[in-house]
Amino acid sequence: MECFSYFKNKSKHKGQRSAPELERKSDNSATTADRTTKSSCSATSPRGIPELYEEKAHNLRVFSFSELRQAANDFSRLLKIGEGGFGCVYKGSIKRVDRKGEPMQVAIKKLNRDGLQGHKQWIAEVQFLGVVEHANLVKLIGYCSEDSERGMQHLLVYEFMPNKSLEDHLFNKAYAALSWQTRLSILLGAAQGLAYLHEGLEVQVIHRDFKSSNVLLDEDFKPKLSDFGLAREGPTADRTHVSTAVVGTHGYAAPDYIETGHLTTKSDVWSFGVVLYEVLTGRRSLERNRPRTEQRLLEWVRQYPPDGKKFSLIIDPRLENQYSVSAARKIAKLADSCLLKSSKDRPKTSQVVHSLQEITQVSGAGDDASQAVDRSTELSENEPVDSELKPDQSGNSESWKRRMAHLVKLGEHGDSSSRKKFLIMQRTRVQ
Ligand SMILES: Nc1ncnc2c1ncn2[C@@H]1O[C@H](COP(=O)(O)OP(=O)(O)OP(=O)(O)O)[C@@H](O)[C@H]1O
Ligand SMILES: [Mg+2]
Repeated sequence: MECFSYFKNKSKHKGQRSAPELERKSDNSATTADRTTKSSCSATSPRGIPELYEEKAHNLRVFSFSELRQAANDFSRLLKIGEGGFGCVYKGSIKRVDRKGEPMQVAIKKLNRDGLQGHKQWIAEVQFLGVVEHANLVKLIGYCSEDSERGMQHLLVYEFMPNKSLEDHLFNKAYAALSWQTRLSILLGAAQGLAYLHEGLEVQVIHRDFKSSNVLLDEDFKPKLSDFGLAREGPTADRTHVSTAVVGTHGYAAPDYIETGHLTTKSDVWSFGVVLYEVLTGRRSLERNRPRTEQRLLEWVRQYPPDGKKFSLIIDPRLENQYSVSAARKIAKLADSCLLKSSKDRPKTSQVVHSLQEITQVSGAGDDASQAVDRSTELSENEPVDSELKPDQSGNSESWKRRMAHLVKLGEHGDSSSRKKFLIMQRTRVQ
């Protein structure tokens, strides 16, 4: 079988400002591009992600480990901004190459050293994010792969997203609740990012881990999708699906994919449907501390159909009734279509975008949503403002300052405890 492994050459990387090649070799030990063995269906793509990556790799910066260690103040706990299955994420500052070394804020993800799975995900992230380019996808600035005195180090350097993730704002009461309009625009942007992956590239890209924690928010609360470590190329034109080991996160993965291992873009559409309900209700897809009938979000909302009298009971109380009921019903109907049992019946991602555009336009045109209150202004007046994080002239409002101060404070304490990822690792039949 053919697969790709990262071409390591420490001396070559030092001081280098473009990405090294990914070496193609025969090896049964796997990488993300192992589609020829696990997939019976997608091996014939003339230009896959690795080929596209080779074309675009020069856009990525290659950092030395010492450069990144310095950028994140020796990976100080004070600069830790998050932690996921891959490892810890730190805020750091690097010098821009394009603007005479001006400092630039970045997020640095440091892979936990052990594990083949982590290494595979690191390569996938570099390859996919090295190829894609869209306003609603997080930008990968560069990476580091180096054999240091502490062992092999793999890191990723992203543009810094100051407003954390959609998950943080939906479920963590310490964060300001998102207004109705902000929720709609986040959903639309996230759908546009997914549609680009599914329909806007030479190859189809399936994210496989779409969830609210992987929707990051920039300074204007514009959403950008992150975490491409589990992404896969979709089937080529004459095939209906790729067959893979099942990976993803419990509560978001499509049941047909879990059952059969057959992966299509419609698996991501299912996950999007779950996030639509999370945004409407302010509840996680799985909440074990609720009464039994309410633990599984999708089972719970089924008792409150979009056209029913009791529908409004599921809407996030943090919206304080500042939302459009008719738009909310439409969102729920859209979610239901994304969550249809048969993947073929689910809408294409571009149709989801289209529906959300219509809903957003109608909802923004003067019904009850126009009274939506942005609760960010309700944050404490006493928080200090970090001068480093001041926005440029366009966004320098008092509410912004308060929100940022709040986030900075929270960031200092890290926030890994609230999240737990369940990796589904189930070998599936290969046709
Ligand atoms: N580019 C970034 N800018 C700012 N913060 C980021 C960035 N990338 C990640 N983070 C922060 O780090 C946290 C952890 O991210 P990470 O992707 O490692 O884990 P996760 O998405 O929470 O879980 P999982 O490993 O299941 O995907 C995010 O929730 C976010 O708060
Ligand atoms: Mg993530």
